[in-house]
Amino acid sequence: MGLLDGKVAIVTGAGRGIGREEAIQLAKNGAKVVVNDVGASLHGGEGDITPAQEVVDTIIAAGGEAVVNGDDISTWAGGKGVIEQAIDTYGSMDILVNNAGILRDKMSFNMEESDWDDVIRVHLKGHFTTSQHAAVYWRGRAKAGEAVTGRIINTSSEAGLFGSAGQANYAAAKGGIVSLTWVLARELERFGVTVNAIAPRARTRMTETVFTEMAKGEEGFDKFDPSHIAQLICFLASPEAHDVSGQVFVVFGGDIWAMSGFRPVGELHRDAAWTPEELIAAKGDLFKTHDSGIAPFAFF
Ligand SMILES: NC(=O)c1ccc[n+]([C@@H]2O[C@H](COP(=O)([O-])OP(=O)(O)OC[C@H]3O[C@@H](n4cnc5c(N)ncnc54)[C@H](O)[C@@H]3O)[C@@H](O)[C@H]2O)c1
Repeated sequence: MGLLDGKVAIVTGAGRGIGREEAIQLAKNGAKVVVNDVGASLHGGEGDITPAQEVVDTIIAAGGEAVVNGDDISTWAGGKGVIEQAIDTYGSMDILVNNAGILRDKMSFNMEESDWDDVIRVHLKGHFTTSQHAAVYWRGRAKAGEAVTGRIINTSSEAGLFGSAGQANYAAAKGGIVSLTWVLARELERFGVTVNAIAPRARTRMTETVFTEMAKGEEGFDKFDPSHIAQLICFLASPEAHDVSGQVFVVFGGDIWAMSGFRPVGELHRDAAWTPEELIAAKGDLFKTHDSGIAPFAFF
């Protein structure tokens, strides 16, 4: 018996990197998997879906079930297409892992309009197109009186949680994905759907210059092998995680951190408005226990 027997999963951007491992691990646990990927280069654009087909072949060779989908999830039609293919092929859709992404890192003063538009479109819109069509599907089933155990697992980044310099487009999209996760978690709870997000660290073509030598743990454990991320995905996808929703996890190697959201760290209060001059005088009270400058990037 697999943890995910009878479930149908979609992983976007599953031709390589983290998504590839997620698709393989979901299938190992019994899910039937739609392996979506346009085969884009790191910087975007459509390319070659051979890597996605190879993931499907790997899953089938191991005794699992999978099909390839080459839709561009950054379009409304692509998001709809991948959801429809899962339902048409396997009769249902239970687990949606939004993972596809591209990079166009530049400082804000060097960024061009297309760098902004393309990254926001693939990550932020690419998370919503699939989620929206999945939400319509699950709502319909719930309204028809069926028991739904839907799962959405989104992919954010520490760039989005802390704001990394040189990634205005990417970090804004990844921060938006956290907000989207919270909204969807609230909206879809009533239909039996949980929605969570991960902020992974793994060595892929996106990060091969960052996670190089520092990757090896003391016993030779490769902390940044992308396959470790997939274990958390399978847990979140499982029926046992029915009570985990609206959460954001930093994950790498054997480390999983449940992160918490905004809360007040300083306060001014009175039953009257403040003038700017009064705020100048009260600034020290507002920032009594909290530095008023931008905090260092928290790469714990
Ligand atoms: N690697 C890390 O350490 C790290 C850290 C934080 C966040 N992430 C996020 O994890 C996700 C996976 O990244 P990765 O490191 O595996 O990168 P990757 O480049 O290896 O994989 C991304 C995949 O997405 C696909 N893709 C791009 N645009 C697409 C589109 N429009 N439609 C369908 N597929 C598309 C690409 O073809 C590629 O196969 C991304 O969202 C990334 O931002 C990764």
